[in-house]
Amino acid sequence: MKHYLQFNDLTADEYAHIFARAAEIKRKFKAYEKYHPLADRTLAMIFEKASTRTRVSFEAGMYQLGGSVVHLTTEGSQLGRAEPIEDSAKVISRMVDLVMIRTYEQTKIEAFASCSRVPVINGLTNEFHPCQILADIFTFIEHRGDKSQSGNLTDCLKGRTVAWVGDGNNMANTWLQAAALLGFKVNVSTPSGYEIDPKVLGHLGLKSRADCYAFYSDPIKACEGADLVTTDVWTSMGFEAENEKRKAAFANWCVDARLMKAAKPEALFMHCLPAHRGEEVSAEVIDGPQSVVWDEAENRMHVQKALMEYLLLGKVS
Ligand code: CP
Ligand code: NVA
Repeated sequence: MKHYLQFNDLTADEYAHIFARAAEIKRKFKAYEKYHPLADRTLAMIFEKASTRTRVSFEAGMYQLGGSVVHLTTEGSQLGRAEPIEDSAKVISRMVDLVMIRTYEQTKIEAFASCSRVPVINGLTNEFHPCQILADIFTFIEHRGDKSQSGNLTDCLKGRTVAWVGDGNNMANTWLQAAALLGFKVNVSTPSGYEIDPKVLGHLGLKSRADCYAFYSDPIKACEGADLVTTDVWTSMGFEAENEKRKAAFANWCVDARLMKAAKPEALFMHCLPAHRGEEVSAEVIDGPQSVVWDEAENRMHVQKALMEYLLLGKVS
């Protein structure tokens, strides 16, 4: 049994398989081809934080695979009345085949997984958002991969540069995990005080891997020569009390035309959404020709269907 709690819970080889399956599953969806490999299987979704994309993509995706879903929130379940996470895991995992959790600390999802009889998927924690990076990389491959190439789809990332502009948050940490695993580079620019957690850099050995990671205090420098420019909200869920302070600190970390111009002319723009136009990204960029944010959002569903298929059925072809 495999859990998907962090991006590096799977190998490069497993990603190559999942991306190939995501492409095929997406093709079937677009052709209205019925595909029900998860008939009679149930996914429990536990949300301790708000969601639009994660909820819709997992719920619609599971139904499309022939399965069904149970939707739980903190307030609507005993989790909100202090039932231990371990007890909840023991009970829920006796009744369903798969669990997706969106919560606060990574230690919480790890505690759940350690008591679960079934695979657990991270639908976002304070530290990581692996399903989003799965979708982002798939979207990059769709737009920039060599269509004639039938080999390993992750090869198209090798030697590329991603510019991360903004908070050193769950998305940034997960991009760095992906870079270390799949062989590309992330140029990070954050305001002072909002850098990547040194523990994350330490675990990945990134301090000494100039091929995977570089830090720039100037966001324009981080974007120079990048194949992809990406950002996220200045204030993530759970950090709302810091909103005003963050608005002042992040004022210079807005992806606008000036930053996109520093990147390669064919660079893509991505944002996991929800976005705040005029804060972390200008309307001109997110609604402009280099932006692929709507494909990126849609692809959450296709890659997660491939992920669920893999966790429950292994390598099907
Ligand atoms: N990108 C993302 O995870 O969106 P939601 O918060 O709407 O699920
Ligand atoms: N970093 C954001 C991502 C939202 C999808 C957050 O954690 O709120």
